[in-house]
Amino acid sequence: MNTDSKKFKAFLVSQKPYGGFQHEITERYISDLPDGEVLIRVHYSSLNYKDGLSSTGNKAVTHNYPHIPGIDAAGIVASSTTEEWKAGDQVVVTGFDLGMNTSGGFGEYIRVPAKWVVKLPQGLTLKHSMIYGTAGFTAGLSVAALIHENIRPDAGPIAVTGATGGVGSVTIAILSKLGYEAIAVSSKESAQAFLRKIGAASIIPRNEVEDAGAKILLTPRFSAAVDTVGGRVLATIIKSLKYGGTVTTCGMVNGGDLPLTVFPFILRGVKLIGIDSVELPMEYRLPVWEKLGTEWRPDNIDSLAHEISLEELPDAIGKILHGEMEGRAVVSLL
Ligand SMILES: NC(=O)c1ccc[n+]([C@@H]2O[C@H](COP(=O)([O-])OP(=O)(O)OC[C@H]3O[C@@H](n4cnc5c(N)ncnc54)[C@H](OP(=O)(O)O)[C@@H]3O)[C@@H](O)[C@H]2O)c1
Repeated sequence: MNTDSKKFKAFLVSQKPYGGFQHEITERYISDLPDGEVLIRVHYSSLNYKDGLSSTGNKAVTHNYPHIPGIDAAGIVASSTTEEWKAGDQVVVTGFDLGMNTSGGFGEYIRVPAKWVVKLPQGLTLKHSMIYGTAGFTAGLSVAALIHENIRPDAGPIAVTGATGGVGSVTIAILSKLGYEAIAVSSKESAQAFLRKIGAASIIPRNEVEDAGAKILLTPRFSAAVDTVGGRVLATIIKSLKYGGTVTTCGMVNGGDLPLTVFPFILRGVKLIGIDSVELPMEYRLPVWEKLGTEWRPDNIDSLAHEISLEELPDAIGKILHGEMEGRAVVSLL
């Protein structure tokens, strides 16, 4: 069946004629989608910080408008020109160019290259896969990096920064599920109950790890850390790691600079590991998705997210851009 003339609903961002950007819920044709091997009827997407940037005209993320953002999508294959995928398959797409310069998951359909597509991992529903989404997958990569560095559950306190955010909250839930002592670092006084519920062993305010002093090392405090915010917070965490500690870095909402000396690395043997969820080759993605569906799946996975509609996106985008989000927002396109 030729679906090209079929219309679908989408959250479309466009450039205003005299400057600025606007968004609307509108209809697009399947033929408006880019070429690709797999056409997917999206059931769920999710909201990530990068979607906030794309939805408000950030040209470092999205060069050309009009554009449908959404770096995550989970749904059912509608048609495929490859043998790898067939109509009816339940699939997940995160990262690569989806939602950046390829029409994304804030529309009822996406069309993508077959090599971006992952089979829905065992143990997860389509909605669960989007409770994770890119943020949760990045949390999984961060935990995998700590395990690879032999950081064990009895290691001691593991700091998680940006704790109420998408990556931070899922990281806490996974670490807690695996028996680690997750220390939530958060700016939100009001989020104590949420952070305890998802598994934080204790909570410290962000300003305790936002050191502006000139000391090259601070009192050793954490055995390891998952940093999601960068900047001065990451620098403070690195200076506060115990001997041989490891920290992962994935984000920069606190800043892209790292005000630091080499001393934590050469005097305490500290390791800093970069996490990228976007271009990561498929062979490394699949084992992490498998863990996210099985051993690492938090018992309270549903409490990590709330569901919103396309119509509720503008409010949620404002919140994520202002660092006000608590947990994950799953976008339903059903
Ligand atoms: N490398 C990758 O592949 C990858 C993948 C996913 C995300 N990321 C990046 O990782 C970062 C976090 O993503 P996310 O999805 O978790 O975003 P998010 O849901 O917006 O969460 C970010 C959290 O950081 C804290 N925060 C906000 N502004 C801050 C500031 N100025 N200084 C310090 N902390 C601040 C807030 O938590 P509290 O109020 O609890 O402190 C906020 O909830 C973003 O920069 C994102 O682009 C990278």
